[in-house]
Amino acid sequence: MNKQTIIRATGLQKSFGSVMPARNITVSIEEHSIVGLIGTNGAGKTTFVNMLTGYIRPDSGDIHFYDKRITGIAPRNITKLGIARSFQIPQLFASQTARENVEIALAISGFPATFADESLARLGVLEFSETPSGTLPEGTRKLLDIALAMVCKPKVLLLDEPTSGVAAEEKFDVMNRVLDAARELDVTVLFVEHDMEIVRRYSDRVLAFFDGTIIADGTAEVVLADPKVRELIIGETAVSVSGEHGAAHA
Ligand SMILES: Nc1ncnc2c1ncn2[C@@H]1O[C@H](COP(=O)(O)OP(=O)(O)OP(=O)(O)O)[C@@H](O)[C@H]1O
Ligand SMILES: [Mg+2]
Repeated sequence: MNKQTIIRATGLQKSFGSVMPARNITVSIEEHSIVGLIGTNGAGKTTFVNMLTGYIRPDSGDIHFYDKRITGIAPRNITKLGIARSFQIPQLFASQTARENVEIALAISGFPATFADESLARLGVLEFSETPSGTLPEGTRKLLDIALAMVCKPKVLLLDEPTSGVAAEEKFDVMNRVLDAARELDVTVLFVEHDMEIVRRYSDRVLAFFDGTIIADGTAEVVLADPKVRELIIGETAVSVSGEHGAAHA
């Protein structure tokens, strides 16, 4: 089956003073794919996510969502078009309960509060609906934050380090719930991730960022074995990439 391109970035450039986290990035993302974004600290992953979601305007280059040019459009309007995101640090109102957080997100998106339970259940966090979000464990906070991003039923979901700060034994659970929810809603997912075991297990495709460029692009198997990726990104200590986990969502 021929898959349609949902996001197309062409020649994206961005610099902050002498730092240049995007140097002519050109890449197309297919509908329904699960794409892992890897790279060293400061490589430009969050900058890429910020450009796709309107938080940072590229100095040059273009971004298309299907056939629509979205370069320079304000974040909330990009969200309305169907591109949602989570942040490296969950953006929650700590003293509000999980349900109240969802209700606020629903109100912003123009949906009635009656969808709150459904939104919480989709990510498997309904049991925490009356708990103040600030007291929840990090994995649950991440899931709640992603539930908020998904209330608008996006077409594309960009997740900036969905498992960072989550206990190792809970990371797979977080990813399983997120990707189950994404499949339920037919969402294309791009996720930034430093844990190569997670990348290997959940990505249909991996983009490897280094110094503002994509140095490798392909299946996890190919990209994680790429000599440049191993030298520049994974380093010698990363024995986990030789693990034997299959694709959990195959
Ligand atoms: N708003 C900004 N103003 C100034 N410099 C910025 C800004 N955003 C990012 N940078 C710089 O751009 C570079 C790329 O940052 P970015 O956040 O995209 O990296 P990253 O790949 O997400 O890294 P990490 O894995 O640490 O999250 C870094 O040197 C960062 O300091
Ligand atoms: Mg980042």
